[in-house]
Amino acid sequence: MTRPKPSFQELYPGYPEPVFEPLVFHRLPPQEMQKRAEAFYRELSARRTTRHFSTESVSRQLIELAVLSAGTAPSGAHRQPWRFVAVQDPELKRRIREAAEEEEFRTYTARMPEEWRAALAPLGTDYVKEHLTDAPWVVVVFREKFGLRPDGSTYKNYYTTESVAIAVGLFIAAVHHMGLTTLTHTPNPMAFLGELLGRPRNEEAMLVLPVGYPAPGAQVPRLQRKALREIFQVDAG
Ligand SMILES: Cc1cc2nc3c(=O)[nH]c(=O)nc-3n(C[C@H](O)[C@H](O)[C@H](O)COP(=O)(O)O)c2cc1C
Repeated sequence: MTRPKPSFQELYPGYPEPVFEPLVFHRLPPQEMQKRAEAFYRELSARRTTRHFSTESVSRQLIELAVLSAGTAPSGAHRQPWRFVAVQDPELKRRIREAAEEEEFRTYTARMPEEWRAALAPLGTDYVKEHLTDAPWVVVVFREKFGLRPDGSTYKNYYTTESVAIAVGLFIAAVHHMGLTTLTHTPNPMAFLGELLGRPRNEEAMLVLPVGYPAPGAQVPRLQRKALREIFQVDAG
């Protein structure tokens, strides 16, 4: 059954009418669409998580552009619940590394269940996190769990994890597209990041993304990506 469309005032009594503007949309010829789709996929296929970074510097403008790209992500109720804290101060990076390695050491040597160890074995990761001091930028992504007004009162945010994850996906794609590389790092637990970076109580660190050039001779684990038939279904299975 399809229902008649309600008026705005019926659903939102007392709220001001939203402001609309024409959608800007450039329709492309089908051949051009195919060409672009293939080129974009080829480009993304070449992305790899890098764990060895060169110490070569990267301009702040490039990091800002990656963050601006991330900030174009859709978000639940347009709350944009992401904060990107870009760290370049060597002393601060050193402190982040020290705290992260402390937690990671405990994880790898005591806390890690066997199933998790088995999942990580093909990657060969360990508790020494050189990337946190080698990469010129370490971008820490925070999720705004709820909104905080200047007077200290709070308001609800929606789908914050999903929204921040989408934004980070765009950030990673932007970094790759501009000719740099990154690592999606999740030190566990990572509460120390909020304290070290002076973030407010409504934010929670979600990911750490060192950004830079790969170290000369950097290697990555040989991995296989799932085939289309394994990740895609059309209509009911
Ligand atoms: C949510 C998330 C958390 C991750 N955490 C870590 C991590 O803590 N340390 C690490 O070395 N790699 C981490 N990775 C990277 C994955 O291991 C990597 O993406 C995966 O092995 C596939 O490799 P690729 O990115 O080169 O395709 C993480 C990736 C994601 C998406």
